[in-house]
Amino acid sequence: MLNVTSPWALILSLLTAIVSISYYNNNPSAPEIRSPHCASWNAWYNPLRSGQVGYQANDWNILYHLGGNGPWIEKIDELETPGLEPPKGCVIDQVHMISRHGERYPTKSAGSRHLALLNRIKEANVVLNGSLSFLNNWTYFTDEPQKDFDQLTKTSPYAGTLQAFSTGVRFLTRYGHLLPLHGTTRLWASECNRVIETAQHFASGFFGLDWEKTEKAALEIIPETLERGADTLTPGDTCPKYIEDPAKGHDNGVNMLALFQDVYIPAIAERLINDENNSALGYLTNLEVYGMQEMCGFETLSRGSSPWCDIFTHDDWENFEYARDLIHYYRAGPGNPYAGAMGWLWLNATTGLLRSGPEAGTMFFSFVHDGDIAPLVTAMDILKDPKYDPFLPTTHRVEDRVWRTSSVMPMGGRIVFERLTCPTSSAKDPSGEEAFLRVNINDKIVPLPYCKSGPGLSCPLKEFVDHVERRRSEVGDFGEVCGLEKDVGYITFLRQG
Ligand SMILES: *[C@@H]1O[C@H](CO)[C@@H](O)[C@H](O)[C@H]1NC(C)=O
Ligand SMILES: *[C@@H]1O[C@H](CO)[C@@H](O)[C@H](O)[C@H]1NC(C)=O
Ligand SMILES: *[C@@H]1O[C@H](CO)[C@@H](O)[C@H](O)[C@H]1NC(C)=O
Ligand SMILES: *[C@@H]1O[C@H](CO)[C@@H](O)[C@H](O)[C@H]1NC(C)=O
Repeated sequence: MLNVTSPWALILSLLTAIVSISYYNNNPSAPEIRSPHCASWNAWYNPLRSGQVGYQANDWNILYHLGGNGPWIEKIDELETPGLEPPKGCVIDQVHMISRHGERYPTKSAGSRHLALLNRIKEANVVLNGSLSFLNNWTYFTDEPQKDFDQLTKTSPYAGTLQAFSTGVRFLTRYGHLLPLHGTTRLWASECNRVIETAQHFASGFFGLDWEKTEKAALEIIPETLERGADTLTPGDTCPKYIEDPAKGHDNGVNMLALFQDVYIPAIAERLINDENNSALGYLTNLEVYGMQEMCGFETLSRGSSPWCDIFTHDDWENFEYARDLIHYYRAGPGNPYAGAMGWLWLNATTGLLRSGPEAGTMFFSFVHDGDIAPLVTAMDILKDPKYDPFLPTTHRVEDRVWRTSSVMPMGGRIVFERLTCPTSSAKDPSGEEAFLRVNINDKIVPLPYCKSGPGLSCPLKEFVDHVERRRSEVGDFGEVCGLEKDVGYITFLRQG
């Protein structure tokens, strides 16, 4: 698994092994000892580290098929891409992050569906057979659903609190040289409890527990309300046409999802009811089976593993993953005509800061929801799919799609823009330096398909600026697309100093 090449890596891997063994020993309900998920050592990149460590990531891993209901994972790609160290001679002088909140319990709406199913099974008062027999002696993963729904998980290796804190530590490891010597660093969260708490845990990991008292950092909370117009982190909440358009707006996601659920789920229900001798239960609806698949992810987030994960085949999981990709694609991705204009707002504001460079501030960290990250991905065109966009089929799963979101928008998923300054050989620039942009998605450098001529497949900043301007004419103006008449403004809060 690990290609251990240094004494440090050896010590770290032994520690991880001890921690994971004692974790499983203390958790008798864990069905089996599995190799624990842990970040690869590459993610703990430190500018002063020397030597290479490597890992192998081509095993089939359930965490890569949970479509956003699973724990934070590193992005994987078939393509070989550069490591996290800056290209030779370059320095990172500014960093921007937009991050989804950390691991959470189900939302109230998903959680209520789970409880309704469990209740129906309980009231049927039957002994379950086959792979569902674990349910004869299983409890839901929270005793206090009304309190826990929508909130960060606080237990297991995948606790949202832990993930957010350790991301702060990881970022300090990687970007510590960007910490200003004086003054307060602002960071931003949209106004939702789990998002705010994620930012707070992150800040504690990055700036230290006393970040607020010492005024090293200050968290600004941006309301998710409609009247913010374009001055928002959550454009899906401020775009009236998107909210109201039943055919092409927000609800297009669940509508398209339902079409595909009807393609892949009936055969699973048939298997669980008939082949596994559970006919006394009568039936399982599409939403009930889908809820069972959701529970695999959510139970894992609070308990570390889940028996729900084992009752489905790899093919069932590939279909679930595709179902989740479809909801994102049509709710706030390339299949939604509002998404690009929504995501362009943050992209434009950030591009302005990239142009200004480190004098405008060295770090900009924002915390939001997955429904705000999909529009940004769309505006950036980083997962552009010339074959399918803007119609991803709902009649069957397409394996050759580019739009795979499980390792882009998992819980805690984040997109990071790194501004690089590199020496240039061209005589045109008297400073002898040129700025580039590199995009890091969940600790994987992801080259922009349309711009990667810079060092380490980065994009010359000038070209990126042109692309962002061109995208504006393609995705349209936020106010017009959203049917807003008054001046909608622009993002004003993203600034330091
Ligand atoms: C049900 O699970 C609990 C906790 O794991 C265990 O103590 C108990 O023996 C189990 N009961 C049955 C009937 O398997
Ligand atoms: C279902 O019941 C039949 C007949 O009793 C049995 O042969 C079969 O093994 C059972 N299947 C499962 C999955 O329990
Ligand atoms: C499970 O199998 C038992 C024994 O065959 C049967 O009595 C029971 O009804 C089955 N459970 C369901 C849910 O069909
Ligand atoms: C785009 O960003 C610039 C700052 O770089 C700002 O002046 C402008 O108003 C923004 N435009 C929109 C439409 O958000």
